[in-house]
This record gives sequence, structure tokens and C-alpha cells, in this order.
Amino acid sequence: MSEDLKRQAAAMALTNLRPGMRLGLGTGSTARHFVDLLGEKVAAGFDCICVPTSEVTARQALSLNIPLSDLETLDRLDLTVDGADEIDPDLNLIKGAGGALLREKIVAAASDAMVVIADDSKLVPALGPRFPLPIEVNRFGLGATQRAVADVMARHGAQGPLRLRETAPGSPYVTDGGHLLLDAFFGRISQPEALSRDLLDIAGVVQHGLFLKMCKTAYVATPDGVRTLT
Ligand code: 5RP
Repeated sequence: MSEDLKRQAAAMALTNLRPGMRLGLGTGSTARHFVDLLGEKVAAGFDCICVPTSEVTARQALSLNIPLSDLETLDRLDLTVDGADEIDPDLNLIKGAGGALLREKIVAAASDAMVVIADDSKLVPALGPRFPLPIEVNRFGLGATQRAVADVMARHGAQGPLRLRETAPGSPYVTDGGHLLLDAFFGRISQPEALSRDLLDIAGVVQHGLFLKMCKTAYVATPDGVRTLT
């Protein structure tokens, strides 16, 4: 059922495509459906050029013969289609459960529009209650960065723990950019803009998973059909 809803949301995003578009390709199980569907269109002759937001998505796109490029060759993209972990009523997002938040944010920021595709489990009244906020950090000085992030969490009334993401006990998860991820459990985030600034002020923080005012349209699949949120 859930995969079915994700595919329905992904199919709605196809309505935004025009021949010759420069597209950002998101990461995650919902974005994977979009890339599959785009692959079908490309096989039928659709012309586009795409920038993937992760090595996983790049491999999938290449396997489907979707033409790939990068942000050295293309200065702007027309549209990025990506998933999200949480979506608030203003279409602010938490992203990064899949570990690709840095490239996802770079690609979305280089795009004229960002469309999010998700099932309705991702809708929240305010960011923070369900997913931890992923924070991508440099390996160097990890302890100092963790203490600085914990300090910001305390100032923002965070409820939960701060964890280094691991693939197995003792093995940290390493992002495509070679960085580490901290998962910070905030509970309800009441001041996302201020939190964003405070986290980016920490020297060892590379980026975080708050995507504020970046998404213009979300296609949210429900058992009663796909809702378009703007
Ligand atoms: C990866 C992401 C994903 O878009 C997000 O985690 C949603 O994934 P899914 O569609 O599998 O629920 O931000 O970094």
C-alpha cells in the first residue's frame, strides 16, 4: 500500500515535465519511483538532462539510460523532484533520513522549483515530532561539534538525544561527501529559521536537514487520491 501511494505521488510529479528540462533527481524510496517513471519516459524518447542527489540515485538513473550531468556543466536546473521525511503546512521540510541531505540541498538550491513527493504519513502540523533532524558534520573535531550541537539543542528546548548515525555498532554512517551524520531529536521545532542559523554557525556543521521555503509544490498521496499542496 505504502509503495503504491509513493508511486502515485511520483506519477503526479511527471505532469511538471517538459521536453529539454534540466532536472534534479532526489534520493529515497519515493524519489526512486519517480526515477523509474522518468526512465520509462526517456526510453520512449523524452529529452532531459539530470543531476542526481546521491550515488545511489546516479546508479539507478544510469541503469535506466537517463542522461546525467552536474552543476559544473549546468548552472541552473528547472526542477528538482525529491521526497521528504516531514512536511509542515507551509511546505517546510525535514529531509535526510536517507543520508543525502547535503547534495539534496545543493541541487534544490540550484533549481528554479522544488517539487516534493510523499505519502500522507509525512504530513505534520510542525516540524520535528516524528523524525530526528539529520545534521551533516565534518569528521575532524567531532567531539567539539557534538558538544556545540548539544548546546544549540538545549537552547532550542530539544527533548531527545543526539546520536551519531551508525551502519552497525561502532561503524559510523559516511555520507557521499565523506562526512558523518548526527541525528538530533528535537520534538516540535518552534523556531526553524533561528535553529537553522544557529546550527550553521557551528564550525564543524556542513549542513542540516531543515529545508525552509524551498518547496513550492508537494504531491501527497492519500488512500483517497493525490493531494496537491502549494
Ligand atoms: C534522503 C531524503 C529522502 O528524500 C527522505 O528521507 C524521504 O525518503 P523516503 O521517500 O524513502 O521516505 O531526504 O536523504
